[in-house]
Amino acid sequence: MNIRIAPSILSANFASLGDDIRKVEDAGAQLLHIDVMDGHFVPNITIGPVVLRSIRKVTGLPLDVHLMISDPDKYIPAFVDAGADMITVHAEATLHLDRTLNFIRSHKVRAGVSINPATPVSNIQHVFGLVDMVLIMSVNPGFGGQAFIPYSLDKIRQARKIIVEHKHACAIEVDGGIDLVTLPGAVKAGANVLVIGNAIFGHPDPGARVKEMLESIATLGYHSNYV
Ligand code: DX5
Ligand code: ZN
Repeated sequence: MNIRIAPSILSANFASLGDDIRKVEDAGAQLLHIDVMDGHFVPNITIGPVVLRSIRKVTGLPLDVHLMISDPDKYIPAFVDAGADMITVHAEATLHLDRTLNFIRSHKVRAGVSINPATPVSNIQHVFGLVDMVLIMSVNPGFGGQAFIPYSLDKIRQARKIIVEHKHACAIEVDGGIDLVTLPGAVKAGANVLVIGNAIFGHPDPGARVKEMLESIATLGYHSNYV
C-alpha cells in the first residue's frame, strides 16, 4: 500500500505560510491539507477561498480541502474556483450527502467524505463508491494539537474492510493526533493518507519532521509515493 503525508497548515505560521509550505513540499510531503472552519459546524474559524487562492500560487502540491462548515454546497464552487484539487465534506454537515458528493464530482475535482469520532462508519458506507477519500476524524474537529482518540483505529479497520470487500478505490485518510507514536497504529489499521498538523508545524524544523515520518512509513514496510 502507498502511504501519503498531508501536512495540515492549521498549525503553520500564517504570517509566513509560503515558507512553511515550501519546507514540507521540499521534504517530500505528497498533499497539503487545508482546514476550513466556520465557527458554526465547529467552534473555531480559520480560512476561506481567498487564502486558498494565494496558497495555490505558491505550491504544486495537490490541495486537500477539508470543509468543516455547515451547508457546504453553498461554498463548494468558490473553493473549486480558488484551486482545490479535492474537497471533503462532513456527513454531519449536509442533509443530502449523496447529492453533495455528486455536486463536488460535477465540478471535476476529487470528493471526500468525513465523519466525526462519534459517527459510525456504517453511516457513510453506501457512498464509498462516490468518493476518492474517506476521512476518519481521530479527534473532535475544530483544533490542532489534540490527542488521538484510540477507538478511531477500529473505525479505520472497519472502513478498510468495506473497501476491500466491495473493491472500492477510495483512500482512507486519518486526521487528528497523528505523530511518530500514533502513526504506526493508524497505518497498520489501514489508513493511507495521514493528516499531520501539530507534529509537523509545531516542530522547529517541519521539513526534518516530514522526513522522519516518511522514514517511519518506510520502516513499516510501505511505500510513500506521489500518486
Ligand atoms: C482538526 C483538523 C485537523 C488538524 C490536525 O479539526 O481537521 O486537520 O489540523 O492537527 P493535529 O495533527 O495537530 O491533530
Ligand atoms: Zn483536517
